[in-house]
Amino acid sequence: MTISSSPLSANASKKPLLGVNIDHVATLRQARGVSYPSPLEAALLCEKAGADGITIHLREDRRHIQDSDVYEIAEQLTTRMNLEMAATTEMLAIACKVEPFWVCLVPEKRAELTTEGGLDVSGQITWLTDYIKKLQAVGIQVSLFIDPDETQIAAAIDCGADAIELHTGAYAEAGLTGNVEIQAAELKRIQQAVASAQRLRPKLLINAGHGLTRDNVNAIAQIDGIYELNIGHALIADAIFVGLEQAVIMMKSAMHERD
Ligand code: PXP
Repeated sequence: MTISSSPLSANASKKPLLGVNIDHVATLRQARGVSYPSPLEAALLCEKAGADGITIHLREDRRHIQDSDVYEIAEQLTTRMNLEMAATTEMLAIACKVEPFWVCLVPEKRAELTTEGGLDVSGQITWLTDYIKKLQAVGIQVSLFIDPDETQIAAAIDCGADAIELHTGAYAEAGLTGNVEIQAAELKRIQQAVASAQRLRPKLLINAGHGLTRDNVNAIAQIDGIYELNIGHALIADAIFVGLEQAVIMMKSAMHERD
């Protein structure tokens, strides 16, 4: 894998970076059991259109991304791969072979449609501390996908994580159901979580993602201190109508609109 730059130098402009999650290109392929559309081709097109990184989630049930996708994409990316995975022994072995730039540890339940909640870091500090050390030992930076909650942020810091990814699902869901007050409260929760993380460990990178769309992304992108946003479903949905490159361009401009 080619690594273009260190994560800290990549967004000196302070505008959040865009990591594109391409899992649903693989979902479409798996629905037919054929060889197209190709997640690798999608990853390279996203990079060409300005994506700052590519996220893929290798799930235990292999419902979309397959092991061969992980190896092929890692081989050809020129930005950074963010490999989402559960903190299992099987995934640790794969990550140590692939050596993605980032691993993002997520909770995983077989029956869920998508990642439903953040990782319970405070409930498994010993396991995660050891797990994170093993990934870092081969040069991988580790992020933990957590709810915007100070207990979980403090636990992520205790475990030695390089970054956190704040779950924006509740904020997004409130917007979809038209619940303006709850959405405002969830936005505040995310803003407070960013402030807590900065106070507790100024060097911690703070990412966010889940359920973000061109309509709701701007308020999150404007939070000072957010390093990268990981966006998948809505961007791939846009791509059906406008093409993948244009969907990346449109998402980036929605993120940076007020600048
Ligand atoms: N971040 C994490 C940790 C995720 O699990 C997902 C969904 O795979 C995303 C971001 C992207 O969410 P969405 O597909 O809703 O944009």
